[in-house]
Amino acid sequence: MRTSPTRFIRALNTHLTTAAAANPPHRTMKLLYPTSLAFNEQAITGFPDLTLHPYDVNAPIPDSLIDAEILVTWTNTNLADAFARMKKLRWIQSLAAGPNDVLSAGFATTSSLTITTGSGLHDRTVAEHTLGLLLAAARRLHEMRDFQLQGKWPGHLGGPQPDRPAGSFRTLRDARILIWGFGNIAKTLTPHLLALGATVRGAARRPGIRDGIEVFAEDKLPELLPETDALVMILPGDPSTDNALNAERLALLPKHAWVVNVGRGSAVDEDALAGALDAGRLGGAALDVFKTEPLPAESRLWKTKNLIVSPHAAGGRPQGAEELIVENLKRFLAGEELKNVI
Ligand SMILES: NC(=O)c1ccc[n+]([C@@H]2O[C@H](COP(=O)([O-])OP(=O)(O)OC[C@H]3O[C@@H](n4cnc5c(N)ncnc54)[C@H](OP(=O)(O)O)[C@@H]3O)[C@@H](O)[C@H]2O)c1
Repeated sequence: MRTSPTRFIRALNTHLTTAAAANPPHRTMKLLYPTSLAFNEQAITGFPDLTLHPYDVNAPIPDSLIDAEILVTWTNTNLADAFARMKKLRWIQSLAAGPNDVLSAGFATTSSLTITTGSGLHDRTVAEHTLGLLLAAARRLHEMRDFQLQGKWPGHLGGPQPDRPAGSFRTLRDARILIWGFGNIAKTLTPHLLALGATVRGAARRPGIRDGIEVFAEDKLPELLPETDALVMILPGDPSTDNALNAERLALLPKHAWVVNVGRGSAVDEDALAGALDAGRLGGAALDVFKTEPLPAESRLWKTKNLIVSPHAAGGRPQGAEELIVENLKRFLAGEELKNVI
């Protein structure tokens, strides 16, 4: 017996409806990753319920992706738009160690949204840059370049020199380095400083021994600062660190001491620092971060004596982003606490 086309279609519809009820459509989760860095999508494997979508960090999130649950951010300028429109977000993975941009867009960690940082992805690059700034300071490379640009021979910096004269910062050997903000970057930097013969101490919120280094709480700064040849600041930028290095603390540093800041500009009172440098009350400063970036043309820091301006160049190249995302995805899907939660 032949089935009429109408009966066949009706039967097919019934079959499809029954099958759909037995196997509801598979719910997938969307992860949006930024195209502002070279991202290896192939490295994010083993998550059958996850779909990956590249997105432009400088354009509004497309309507088709607005329902994403997971957003990876890097150098975004569209976060205010994302905050206003992405109502299903459950997790933001910033690739910056200090995701101030995510927080200032309005996102905050809540019971329904987790924000994780890229702390750990910048350890090597920032440690290397910090070491470079410290060596430039001690070896006066900036001064040599200043002379070179004037076609002058900086004779005072060459030829026979006193070896480690007291009250100076001319070498890392025997230099007393204090690292304020003793987290992942500090732990990567420290072995390089030790290898060059420096002594290293740390300051952080909690005191204790970390990776063999004595880390003090901030109430010990009045004792630590006068015994410091170079102060390395690697503090995050949040209200608790605002102007942490203020006039009062600057005054405790020896006259020859250098300040190197690779954390956040908000942690240094820039006017107080410039005042101390111009008055010769401090050896010098190498700043990679500023309260306003790019540093405005009218800033007095451009003309401040013995100041090296580095244009937020220490990090900027997250390393191992895919591994961190995979690790956190596993935890996210298992309902476990993520790595680097703010
Ligand atoms: N220049 C660049 O290109 C660049 C690149 C990457 C990162 N950064 C900056 O570097 C910062 C640090 O990065 P990280 O990966 O090393 O961070 P981390 O591992 O989270 O370490 C932060 C350290 O700061 C200390 N700290 C936080 N708040 C403090 C406070 N109010 N007073 C004293 N100490 C405080 C913490 O103390 P406890 O350990 O006691 O909690 C910890 O030792 C980032 O937040 C970012 O702003 C800059």
